[in-house]
Amino acid sequence: MVQRTLSIIKPDATCRNVTGEINHMIEAAGFRIIAQKRILITLEQAKKFYEVHQEKPFYNDLCEFLSSAPAIVQVLEKENAVLDYRTLMGSTNPASADEGTIRKKFAISIDKNSVHGSDSPENATIEIKFFFSETEIVG
Ligand code: CMP
Repeated sequence: MVQRTLSIIKPDATCRNVTGEINHMIEAAGFRIIAQKRILITLEQAKKFYEVHQEKPFYNDLCEFLSSAPAIVQVLEKENAVLDYRTLMGSTNPASADEGTIRKKFAISIDKNSVHGSDSPENATIEIKFFFSETEIVG
């Protein structure tokens, strides 16, 4: 089934000027980037976006990091996009990410791990709506 997922290219990657290389990996893996914008996520937006993690010890640092510099938010479309993008990203902690994954190649640490992807189709719908209106998505 063709699915959509939300991807964020995080501030550590925009700061190192590797967004094109990451997009190349995304497209080479068969995803279509059907919406994309470079934005400065506010601290308030970051807190709302990551609210499922609000009890975690890393929550404040995570939100501050996401709002610290520009991010690229994008909608990716492909068969099985949610799971396949998580596979392409690699594990959250780059120290255990597989060869050939985005995080293996670009992530610096578990915090500065270069990309985010939705973890379920339900959350993909919620996360896409968080950043995009219907008219901004051109499939
Ligand atoms: P992401 O996929 O964007 O979802 C939540 C983020 O929290 C995760 O990537 C990591 O960058 C960050 N994070 C920081 N510390 C941890 C941790 N101990 N476990 C999981 N995620 C963490």
